[in-house]
Order: sequence, then structure tokens, then C-alpha cells
Amino acid sequence: MSSFLQVTGLRVHYGVIEAVKGIDFSLERGKITTLLGANGAGKSTTLLALSGLIRATAGSVMLDGVELRKLPSHRIVANGLVQVPEGREILTSLTVRENLLLGAYRRQRTGEIDSDLENSLELFPRLRERVDGTAGNLSGGEQQMLAIARALMAKPRLLLLDEPSMGLAPLLVQEIFRTLRDLNQRGLTIFLVEQNARQALKIADYAYVMENGAIVLSGPSAELLENPKVVEAYLGA
Ligand SMILES: Nc1ncnc2c1ncn2[C@@H]1O[C@H](COP(=O)(O)OP(=O)(O)O)[C@@H](O)[C@H]1O
Ligand SMILES: [Mg+2]
Repeated sequence: MSSFLQVTGLRVHYGVIEAVKGIDFSLERGKITTLLGANGAGKSTTLLALSGLIRATAGSVMLDGVELRKLPSHRIVANGLVQVPEGREILTSLTVRENLLLGAYRRQRTGEIDSDLENSLELFPRLRERVDGTAGNLSGGEQQMLAIARALMAKPRLLLLDEPSMGLAPLLVQEIFRTLRDLNQRGLTIFLVEQNARQALKIADYAYVMENGAIVLSGPSAELLENPKVVEAYLGA
């Protein structure tokens, strides 16, 4: 059986610099896969290329049999690949509800939007309490939840997240990871980039490790958690 997402020979350049050097990887349907690596390894660039927010210079990105690599980003979203942006990109002067509805603006069939909004709020009770308040008044953790909830409004089949735990207090990090596991248990396929390698490996089924624009290691998360090289480089003592 072929993978849900199959990436082959993906290359991305910034000018003459090659930030992603022809990587191959795949994601299995219904699983959480994590992409680990030090700062500057090329993780964000990889996600942005999958989302079509930057153009890959070569390679193939097949989602469930459809080639996405040359599609504009809104068509990629329409195919079910949706990224929660790094830095969240919440519109702080709008309400929580308005931010959520923006996640659905590309959708053709508007009939289900109310029930999707309801589902999102069910997943994030903190957002429900503040749904008609200004998004700018949310804490960092709540803004991250809003960014995830907004991405869900686009009806993803594959959700990409770039360091969702960044800058959050430990309790909120736990809450975000718990939510990701919940979403996965409801059938969502997740591709998670994280600096917090230990937490990411704990919820992921499979992991890739990136260094200098290349994938240098991969395996089931449980194995990487015990791999001495991974422990030394990414998990600390
Ligand atoms: N907009 C950009 N212009 C030029 N170089 C960039 C840009 N964004 C990232 N880079 C470089 O590409 C490499 C990979 O960056 P990035 O994908 O952000 O890594 P990571 O997310 O793993 O920290 C780094 O060397 C970084 O300096
Ligand atoms: Mg990054």
C-alpha cells in the first residue's frame, strides 16, 4: 500500500543557498509523524514547501495520489493539506469567532460551517469562553489553540504544525500535545515539527531527523527515543 503523503527529491533554494537538499520521506494515513532537527536544519522550509507557501525547485509531493508540488497554496489547502503557521498569525483586532471563520473562507459548501465552529469550540473550551472577545486579548497558549482551531475549519486531511509548543508554559504545552493526540485519534493525519523532541517523540508514531537540509535518520518514535545518537543530540542527558 502506498503512503498518504509521499515526498521524493524535494529541493528548496533561497537564492543560491540550497536549504532542502533533495529529501525523501513519507507519512502514513492516520498517524502522527514528527520532523526533528536543530535550528536551521530546514524543517520550516520543508513545511512551507509542502504548503506551497514557498516554491520547491524540484521534487514531488504526492498526497493520496495527487501531485501538489506545483499547485498554488489555496489549491493545496483544498486538497486537504493545511498548515498551522509558525508564529500563529492570529488577526489580533478581530474576535476569536471571526478568526475561526477566516479558516473556512475558501470552502465552497458553507452549510457545515456552523457545526464545524461548534466542533472546534468543543475541542478548545478556553476559546468558547472567549469566542466574542478580541483575539489580541488571548494568551500565547490560547492564540496557539486558536491557530490550530482555525486550521481545522479548513477541513484538513493532513495537518502540518511548525513548533506549536514554542514559547508556551509547560502546562499549556501539555494541553496542546493532548489536543493533537485527540485530533489524531479522531482520524486526522499529523506532521509535527518540534524543538521539544522528547514530547514530540512521545506522541508520534514515526520520526525523521533533519540536519543541514538532509534527512539523516528515521524510524519508529519508540526506537529513536532509545537511539544514543538522538538522546545525545536532541534529548539531553
Ligand atoms: N527567507 C530566507 N532567506 C534565506 N535563507 C533562509 C530563509 N529562511 C531560512 N533560511 C535558511 O535556510 C536554512 C533552513 O532554515 P529553516 O527551514 O528555517 O530551518 P529550521 O526550521 O529547521 O530551523 C537556514 O540556513 C536558514 O538560515
Ligand atoms: Mg523553523
